[in-house]
Amino acid sequence: MKLSRTLLSAGVALLLAAPVAAQAKEYKVGLLLPYSGVYAALGKEIDQGFELAVQSRLGEIAGSTIEVVREDTEVKPPVGLAKTRKLILQDQVDVMVGIVSSGVLGAIRDFVHQSGTPLIVANAGNDDATGERCSRFITRVSFSNGQVNRPMGEWMHRKGIKTAYTLAPDYAAGHQMIETFSAGFKAAGGKVVGGEFTPFQTTKDFGPYLTKAKAAGAEAVFVFYAGGEAISFVKQYASFGLAESVPLYGSGFLTSPLYVNAEGPAAKGVITSLHYVPTIETPENAAFVKAFSAAYGRAPSEYAVQGYDAGQALIEAIKTGAADRAALAEALGKARFTSPRGPVEIDPATNNIVQNIYVFETVEGNGGLTQKILDVVKAVRDPVNGCQK
Ligand code: BEZ
Repeated sequence: MKLSRTLLSAGVALLLAAPVAAQAKEYKVGLLLPYSGVYAALGKEIDQGFELAVQSRLGEIAGSTIEVVREDTEVKPPVGLAKTRKLILQDQVDVMVGIVSSGVLGAIRDFVHQSGTPLIVANAGNDDATGERCSRFITRVSFSNGQVNRPMGEWMHRKGIKTAYTLAPDYAAGHQMIETFSAGFKAAGGKVVGGEFTPFQTTKDFGPYLTKAKAAGAEAVFVFYAGGEAISFVKQYASFGLAESVPLYGSGFLTSPLYVNAEGPAAKGVITSLHYVPTIETPENAAFVKAFSAAYGRAPSEYAVQGYDAGQALIEAIKTGAADRAALAEALGKARFTSPRGPVEIDPATNNIVQNIYVFETVEGNGGLTQKILDVVKAVRDPVNGCQK
């Protein structure tokens, strides 16, 4: 697949209008995302959110240009590492943005760190990347796997659920999401009666796993699936007949606004948790939903916000006048921006974002399925988890 390169520069009018805060520079950004494979739609959405932020805020770095070089990870760790090497050694990018899969993030972390290239993580929740394998060159504006799921374990137990069965794909994110959900659920007094990991990217028929989930007799099933796997899973859960007897819960990627309408009525009533839903009622989010919808003809998802905030963090870092990669990395760790998702900050101890987690139910709205917020867990900060930057 041939991916486009783009050169973004503020026009002359903006150049004249905006104060030039620092020396103008040409910044080269490596946008490393899955443009193919089971997470291709997620990659495209992050790319569009990133482009929207950079385009709309270019005037603030008038005189400087941002060249974007795109590469496809194909959701494969070895491919992600090869593309990282290419972007850093051959293209000599100043900064990298992207990464959807926790597996890919785990594979590229050491090369990124050793090369001293700043990386803005715009999805992959791998807990280690802002925990025991953290790096001063890695700043995450998306979420960590534990941050989204631990509060959900506690919340479900508060709502009276005492036993759960878990399912997730068999790779880093699947394991971490279930491990942290289970830790929260058990600490609150719940019991995980069983669970399984399904082959990642290749499971088409969830029937055998659903049979075992049913036999386990738990009060609830909790899962992590995203992208194409989420669509298949939610549909099969309903058609298997399990939804009527055992309610389905999960991390909110399961019912993302990006593909919930492809899941259809099967998604109705599913309760999940995430750091962003387009139904957050704030002026900042209303403005973002309007701008994104105007640009792309649909409401944004959590993936769009992550790309958007990655673009915002980049603009803020460039505005400091950061002249080299070390200065850019430092500025990214201190970046402050107003996010559509609510109050956010980058934790100086880990470089992971601190943010609200929204528990929501997928319900029928006027224009299709929508997200009804049931609860907000405020300012969730990850534990330091051994991070020494
Ligand atoms: C991950 O691998 O970290 C991930 C992928 C898709 C959605 C959420 C997390």
